[in-house]
Amino acid sequence: MAKRLQAVRGMNDGLPETMAVWQHVEAVLRRLVTAYGYGEIRTPVVEDATLFIRSIGEVTDIVEKEIYLFNDRHGDALALRPEGTAGCVRAGIEHGLLYHQEQRLWHLGPMFRYERPQKGRYRQFHQFSVEVFGLTGPDIDAELMVMTARLWRELGIDQQVRLQLNSIGSSAARMAYRQALVAYLLPHQQQLDADSQRRLQSNPLRILDSKDQQVQALLAGAPRFSDYLDAASQQHLAALCHLLTELQIPYQLNERLVRGLDYYNQTVFEWVTDRLGAQSALCAGGRYDGLVEQLGGTSTPAIGFSIGLERLVLLLQQQPTLLPQPAPIDCYLIAAGQGSASAALQLSERIRTALPTLRIMTHCGGHDFKKQFKQADKVGARVALVLGEREIAQQQVIMKPLREQCGASKNDQQVVAQDQLIGHLQCWFKINTLNQETISE
Ligand code: HAM
Repeated sequence: MAKRLQAVRGMNDGLPETMAVWQHVEAVLRRLVTAYGYGEIRTPVVEDATLFIRSIGEVTDIVEKEIYLFNDRHGDALALRPEGTAGCVRAGIEHGLLYHQEQRLWHLGPMFRYERPQKGRYRQFHQFSVEVFGLTGPDIDAELMVMTARLWRELGIDQQVRLQLNSIGSSAARMAYRQALVAYLLPHQQQLDADSQRRLQSNPLRILDSKDQQVQALLAGAPRFSDYLDAASQQHLAALCHLLTELQIPYQLNERLVRGLDYYNQTVFEWVTDRLGAQSALCAGGRYDGLVEQLGGTSTPAIGFSIGLERLVLLLQQQPTLLPQPAPIDCYLIAAGQGSASAALQLSERIRTALPTLRIMTHCGGHDFKKQFKQADKVGARVALVLGEREIAQQQVIMKPLREQCGASKNDQQVVAQDQLIGHLQCWFKINTLNQETISE
């Protein structure tokens, strides 16, 4: 028997009911970043594999274990993007967007990581990201945090998220701290879990955010990163904290926050939640002042963050009152008899041209009136527009309310001339013709 075809493990289908939540989230996000003056950038899902190895870092989990690599038919080594910052920087350099310029950009799209799937962690997931180039901060660092705080408020989840903040300093400070940390951990190597033992050689700072309790207990006596922080980074962090306090954005300093990508320096931050089990990071980011130069551009300061949209949607779905109500169908066009299909399609097109904000469904597939009315009811239509042979011949249409609203009862059916229908619908649905907005009941 042929294999049953299924979605790839860890890659989700978005079905209509859930997509309504996604559309809501995306609309809020787009409105928000546009209001802050950010412009959209879209880059390909596939990039040269070297881009990610050089930016995220060769000894990170993402590059070592999670990246989807393949050779195309020409033999070029390509990768499905595991994150979007590297591609954004590559595009910025390639199109001359970054050279001595300030850029405030956003992007949204699917990312791919070969992780072990569980709630909130997938192999294809979506990020909404903001990247700013040409500004050294800390004011821009604060703006990104204020912007995300506003987003949580607008979505109604500000009580479920908290901001964690750290500075990972200059690369020299990290190098000095790395040595001190390794010197401290080496004698205790046997107490480390397998992952941390491996990281001790390759990427010791990542041991700081190990979830293993024994490792965490061991780290209690480890040297503190703040003792190694360079003066410039200390000042940057202090100024950022001051701004956040003035802006009334609560934050927690978390010295263990190091992030899993190598390109960061100074400010790193995460918005975390307790509502999603192990996958607590809802939004994460930081400064990456060295990345543009590292990828071949002129030295350019930069900062950004990404929000995991699956996690955000999961969080919203836990609180049904925060979910958008599905938009009802305004009119369902019903027709039967000779020439009815053409007449119905033509009439609904005329309505759409005149009233583009009205939601109209035209019945397709024939059937008698009873079945069509049933269908109109099933989709929740507010008004049925009915065309029979007589109405078609006399250029009329029957308007029949299906819900007790619009100031009309269900029995208030009326016959109107087709060329007066637009006026009736405007009145019925209280449509303001100047901006075509439907004023909801
Ligand atoms: P990241 O921490 O790797 O950072 O990912 C950012 C967010 O993407 C996470 O906080 C999480 O919400 C979501 N995410 C990551 N992996 C998965 C997964 N497997 N399934 C579901 N959601 C996931 C970055 O990717 C950086 N590019 C962020 C950034 C932008 N830094 C500067 N600019």
